[in-house]
Amino acid sequence: MVGSPEAAMDENRPLPTPEEDASLSPIIRHPLQRQVLVCTAKSCAANGSEAVLEAFKARLEEEQLLYFKGNREGAVQCLTCGSVGFCAIGPAVLVYPDGVWYAHVSPGDVPEIVESHLKGGVPVARLMRKQLG
Ligand code: FES
Repeated sequence: MVGSPEAAMDENRPLPTPEEDASLSPIIRHPLQRQVLVCTAKSCAANGSEAVLEAFKARLEEEQLLYFKGNREGAVQCLTCGSVGFCAIGPAVLVYPDGVWYAHVSPGDVPEIVESHLKGGVPVARLMRKQLG
């Protein structure tokens, strides 16, 4: 039963404490402020989203903002995601917790998004197509 779907769904199983979970997943205690999600699904990839992802990682690392093994104090986590429905207007880039969805993002747009939005808190209006909430 251990490791089985039935075990995972057992509502009576003891849940680890937040402290126990933090010892297994130290990211819980790190001072993340934002997540940047770059869609790398088929249509966005065909429009260059991998280059956008690499541009974000490089710029954020230059700015000491990227959260990764080499900088656990980085304030921004940069991840890939699957299709969010911007397939015809990608590459799509999502920024959370702001809930801002950008379209048509190119590597050349990355410095402006980092400077204005991720560092300054002001989304880049010309690329923004949706905001959640
Ligand atoms: S493939 Fe990126 S939003 Fe659909």
